[in-house]
Amino acid sequence: MARRKKIYEGKAKILYEGPEPGTLVQYFKDDATAFNAQKKDVIEGKGVLNNRLSEYFMTGLNSIGVPTHFIKRLNMREQLIRSVEIIPLEVVVRNVAAGSISKRLGIPEGTALPRPIVEFYYKDDKLGDPLVAEEHIIAFGWASQPDLDDIVSLALRVNDFLSGVMTGVGIKLVDFKIEIGRIWENDFQRLIVADEISPDSCRLWDMKTGEHLDKDVFRRDLGNLADAYTEVARRLGVLPTNVTHATKPTLIN
Ligand code: TMP
Repeated sequence: MARRKKIYEGKAKILYEGPEPGTLVQYFKDDATAFNAQKKDVIEGKGVLNNRLSEYFMTGLNSIGVPTHFIKRLNMREQLIRSVEIIPLEVVVRNVAAGSISKRLGIPEGTALPRPIVEFYYKDDKLGDPLVAEEHIIAFGWASQPDLDDIVSLALRVNDFLSGVMTGVGIKLVDFKIEIGRIWENDFQRLIVADEISPDSCRLWDMKTGEHLDKDVFRRDLGNLADAYTEVARRLGVLPTNVTHATKPTLIN
């Protein structure tokens, strides 16, 4: 196959030029990073799992009318997506205190929040993705007030959908991060869910045991990350065959 043009390479994914204008191919790597890439490893099979899981969540969102960049899965590691202009914000929704909110505000991890809290972080690795207020976002032109209203509404719809799906398989959706993209249709612009939705960007706790089934397993050295993601995929019924050996041929006797 002809070598495709690489558009962008991030910590966990690569974007290639798509087959048609307005499309891109998103490739999921096995690389795991945490703490702004200070901690790094390669987790065999993670990319395959996240490709499947992101497909599953994005397809579900599309089906209930929450627009996303997802078009179709192409193979084990790649999906076809709409090309968007990424809003430079990480949009975090929290249902239960954990991670940075627990540290910043001294709320014990596991405390249920009185309502879902939406936070914005400015996407800039050099600055360590700092928490910002709507005031900063509008003053610096990262998004307009109407954009922010749409972003909050999208984020809360994603929260309702994902919480429901995860509850159905005995998992508590503690928090998650999404990214939003801007697309142009003729002279109109629209905001859609972009990037990925996977256990890399969520906190997922088993409802019975409290076991972590997300990237905290890697961040906090709690066990095998691929096993945790495989468990999420298995419960959701989206487990591809041969996940952890996706890149190696298996000898069948
Ligand atoms: P935090 O508690 O570290 O702020 O993380 C909140 C949520 O956002 C959690 O589900 C993990 C996710 N997240 C990312 O997807 N990317 C990041 O760079 C960070 C810091 C968090």
